[in-house]
Amino acid sequence: MKLKPIAQVDPQIDEVLQKELNRQQNTLMLIPSENYASSAVLETQSSIFTNKYAEGYPGKRYYQGCTLADEIEEIAITRAKKLFGAEHANLQPHSGTGANIACYQALLQPGDKILSLDLTQGGHLSHGKEGTLPHTYYRIVNYGVDKKSGRFDLDKIRKMAKKERPRLIIVGASSYPRKIEFKPWREIADEVGAYLLADMAHIIGLIAAKVHPDPVPYADVVTATCQKTLRGPRGGFILCKKELASKIDRAVFPGTQGGPFMHTIAAKAICFKEAMQPSFKEYAKQIIINCQSLANTLMEKGFKLITGGSDNHLMLIDLSSQKITGKKAALVLEEAGIVVNKNCIPFDVLPPSITSGIRPGTPALTTRGMKEDEMKLIGKWISEILHNPNNKKMRDEIKAKVEKLCHSFPIYK
Ligand SMILES: Cc1ncc(COP(=O)(O)O)c(C=O)c1O
Repeated sequence: MKLKPIAQVDPQIDEVLQKELNRQQNTLMLIPSENYASSAVLETQSSIFTNKYAEGYPGKRYYQGCTLADEIEEIAITRAKKLFGAEHANLQPHSGTGANIACYQALLQPGDKILSLDLTQGGHLSHGKEGTLPHTYYRIVNYGVDKKSGRFDLDKIRKMAKKERPRLIIVGASSYPRKIEFKPWREIADEVGAYLLADMAHIIGLIAAKVHPDPVPYADVVTATCQKTLRGPRGGFILCKKELASKIDRAVFPGTQGGPFMHTIAAKAICFKEAMQPSFKEYAKQIIINCQSLANTLMEKGFKLITGGSDNHLMLIDLSSQKITGKKAALVLEEAGIVVNKNCIPFDVLPPSITSGIRPGTPALTTRGMKEDEMKLIGKWISEILHNPNNKKMRDEIKAKVEKLCHSFPIYK
C-alpha cells in the first residue's frame, strides 16, 4: 500500500507534525506519564484497521467483515493474559479514565461509596474528583498519605474503610513514588466487604517486567494505560478474574463505549509482545535505576523529595522551601529544554494550577538509552536552573547542552 505523503495532502498539518517531532527529539522529556512508542506501535496505530468498525467482541460482532478484527483482538487478549497472568482481559477501553469508569459501571450502583486517594495527595481525577462523572454518580470518600512520611498509612486507611464501609476501594496513584504491596489492601477490602480496584496506569510497565509487586492475584479488577511505562499506544485496558469477565465486558461495551479502536488494539498487541522480551525487563530495571540516580543527585543538591526518594519511575520534589513554585519551575526548565510537570505535593498550600512541587520521571529518557551518567548531568542542570530562576543566560547555555545530549540519544533512529 502506497500512502501519499501528508506534506502533499495537508502541508499545514504536516508542518506541525514535523515541529512536534523536532520538539520531542530536542528536549529532555521527564513527564513520567509519557514515553516514546516503538515505530511498530506508531505504524500500527495509523494502519488499515483505522477504517474498521467492530462493535461487540470476537465472535459476537454487530458488523460484518470482522473476521480479521476478531483475529487481532484475540491475539491481543491472549498476550495480555499471558503477560500479566490474568484470567480475563478487556482491551477495548479508549483510555485509563474509560477503564476506571467501566469498572464502576460493572461493580457499583449509583449512590455506592468509593474510597480513593485524594487528587492533591497523588490520586487521579477519575477516582472521583468534583466535576467528574464518578463524583456525580457515586459517593466519594478520600484517604491521603501520612503527613510526615508521605507514604500510605495502612492502619489509618483500614480505620477509615471500617467507618465508611465503601463498596469499592481504589489503590493506585498518579504521583506516589514508592512501591505498593497489594496483600494488605486486599485484606482491608475483605474486612469491609468491598471490591478492590488497582489502578496501575502509571506503573503497569514495571509490573509487566516484574520489577514492582503484582496486583493481579489480589485485586478484583486491575485497570491500566498502555502509553506510560508500558510504552505502547494511547489507551486503557482491564484485567480481572473470570467471575467478573462478563460484567466487565458489558460495562465497557455497550455500557460506556461504542465501537473499539481496532488499530489501537492491534498496537496494544504489539506493545504486549514487546513487553514480553528480556530487553523490556532490562529497560524497566533501568527506569528505576535512573530514577534513583536522578533523585539522589537532586537530594545531594539540597532538594527535598516527598518520602525521601523513589523506588519506581517518578519522584515528587517539594519546592516549598526553594522560593519557587511548581508552575515557575516547570516554565524555566522548559525554557532550557527540560520538560517536567508541576504537581501538588501532599498538603500543598498552593492550588493545582500553581503547586509547590514538580514530578519528574525517567521512562522516556530510559527509552532513549540514557543511564546514570546522563541522570547525574540532568540533575545538575535542573538544580542550577531552579537555584537561579532569573538567570536567562545560564538557561540558554544549558539549553545548548541539552540539545547536544539529545542528539546523542535519538528517539527514532
Ligand atoms: C492513576 C491514573 N489513572 C488513570 C489515568 C487516566 O489515563 P487516561 O489519561 O488515559 O485517561 C491516569 C493518567 O495519568 C493516571 O495517572
